[in-house]
Amino acid sequence: MDQQEIFPPPKHFSEKAHIGSMEQCEALYKACAADPEKFWAEQARNLHWFSPWKQVLDWSNPPFARWFIGGKTNIAYNCIDRHLSSARRNKAAIIWEGENFEQRILTYQELYRRVAKFCNALKKLGLKTGDRSIIYMPMIPEAAIAMLACARLGITHSVVFGGFSAEALKARIQDLSASLVITADAGLRRGKEIPLKPNVDEALPECPTVKHQVVFRRLGSKVEMKAGRDHWWHELTDGVSEQCAAEPLDSEHPLYVLYTSGTTGKPKGVVHTTGGYLTQVLSTMKWVFDIKDEDIYWCTADVGWVTGHSYVVYGPLAAGATTLMYEGAPDCPKPDRFWRIIEKYRVSIFYTSPTAIRSFIRQGDDFPNAHDLSSLRLLGSVGEPINPAAWKWYHRVIGKEKLPIVDTWWQTETGCIMISPVPGATPAKPASATRPLPGAAPDILDENGNSIPVGKGYLVLTRPWPAMLRTLHGDPERFKQNYWSRFPGKYFTGDTATRDEDGYIWLLGRNDDVIKVSGHRLSSMEVESALVRHKDVAEAAVIGAPHEIKGEGIHAFVTLKAAAKESPALADELKEWVAKEIGSISRPEKILFVAGLPKTRSGKIMRRLLREVVSADKVVGDTSTLEDYNVILKLTQQGKEEDEILAEKK
Ligand code: PRX
Repeated sequence: MDQQEIFPPPKHFSEKAHIGSMEQCEALYKACAADPEKFWAEQARNLHWFSPWKQVLDWSNPPFARWFIGGKTNIAYNCIDRHLSSARRNKAAIIWEGENFEQRILTYQELYRRVAKFCNALKKLGLKTGDRSIIYMPMIPEAAIAMLACARLGITHSVVFGGFSAEALKARIQDLSASLVITADAGLRRGKEIPLKPNVDEALPECPTVKHQVVFRRLGSKVEMKAGRDHWWHELTDGVSEQCAAEPLDSEHPLYVLYTSGTTGKPKGVVHTTGGYLTQVLSTMKWVFDIKDEDIYWCTADVGWVTGHSYVVYGPLAAGATTLMYEGAPDCPKPDRFWRIIEKYRVSIFYTSPTAIRSFIRQGDDFPNAHDLSSLRLLGSVGEPINPAAWKWYHRVIGKEKLPIVDTWWQTETGCIMISPVPGATPAKPASATRPLPGAAPDILDENGNSIPVGKGYLVLTRPWPAMLRTLHGDPERFKQNYWSRFPGKYFTGDTATRDEDGYIWLLGRNDDVIKVSGHRLSSMEVESALVRHKDVAEAAVIGAPHEIKGEGIHAFVTLKAAAKESPALADELKEWVAKEIGSISRPEKILFVAGLPKTRSGKIMRRLLREVVSADKVVGDTSTLEDYNVILKLTQQGKEEDEILAEKK
């Protein structure tokens, strides 16, 4: 990594930006540092409040923070109603393009009508503030409408990525004790129908809390409707009123629970609330994306991930922006689909993942070069470390060496962007997320919790921030244990980072058993648990190994039961098994059959050693806690053999 290379913000951008100089930026940082509560109170005034808060922050019972205590607001009101009294009412709120080139444009006025109608439909079913729903939808406007309707009524939603299996969906419904599931008959991916309702039907027999399932007809696929439980969206909304008042909700009302992978097999239900969350999400829309009324803003994330929540739906709509949603795959029907969309809708802000960028590089420059990308003014990256080569390609080929790039670091737990350049002010260094935004107080610590001013260590956040997660659903102990016990009083991110002499932060990846495949977060244990549910598998250990496009790929070390026989066919079967159990994003890249797994004396699998086997093909470091060093020796040999088996097969 060349830490010397610096790209100053382009002059033409700075001149028109909300924050156009380092002085302005410093003033913002200073105001926040001097009096964070005053600073955030000013930011919160950018929202509409039905009644004002009495206290900005309560941090008397850490790590359980409360923000804008006593204030009443509503996120859907802030995302829609607020814009109806100005010319924005006729502005596009959502531009949607289906993978099959269908197109829908919803103005703010139309979005209001659709959300209000859906709210009234939910009310007809008896749903009310305090209930909990699961949203399992493709990338269509109704996913956003469902989220906004729940937010409007105070129904806490949990969006489950449409690529997750029935099994993964079931676990989330059960953990949330949801009474409602909102879904579609199917989604569309690379021209293929991806069943959704059938997966819900498979999950529901073991989910007794669910009373209703609402189904949007996306493709007209044949599905079975169970009388009394299942309702068609179009029938339920037919003839209902187009008016529905937003519920004034407490600032700490839980807006959503989003399940994400941690170090154990059970996904964590990250809880985000209302007033603080939207305040900081909206502020970052302005600081990081410099959002303006004229922008056509496109974040390519799926609504199933936190980026889809904060920067496809809630952030852009709260800012009164036009947000673009695309339903399908980036290479459908050809690898130029994203560039066609940018050209067609004159997209000005484009926010995507390093995995997408790396796959564009592989497809070649001819695809973007064949399109007019001159509408673009800002590029963004999120979800995983971006390598300098990918950053420079993005800058050169998409940005024509004229556009700033915001490399934004954050997490499901942080709720919004925490470390990022401010594009009109911060000089960029390729592959560094640069500096913390106001409200983010990061530090880099050594093993013993001492701050490392310059150098590499564990990334922590030292102060509460408005959009922070409040707890883990139903498990406050795990919340404390997971995030606040490694370095007492500090939020432990699970990331390793370096800070350079200029105070710039470089994210280096995870230091726990979380794997990032194409930016999607998976846990080793989740994949291992899926593997050992297969009849032939005795034990499994799963690690992330470097992958040229995806950042990391899953390598699974498997020991078989005595009766089973290893073969390339069984390796393929196990890959499919994991894809079926969790979802295709977790399909292992490689299955390695081994005689034994390296364990500590207490029986814990030493994944660190496996990572070394894969990356260096030899074991280095401390092995004194190993139960049997020979296992490693066998492993290194057998790993090679498996490679050979696969090579032969090809
Ligand atoms: O490891 C970091 C990586 O993604 C993790 C958070 O994943 P998730 O909760 O799924 O949220 C992804 C979207 C915000 C982090 O702990 N990560 C995220 N952004 C970056 C990143 N790593 C390096 N650079 C980034 N810009």
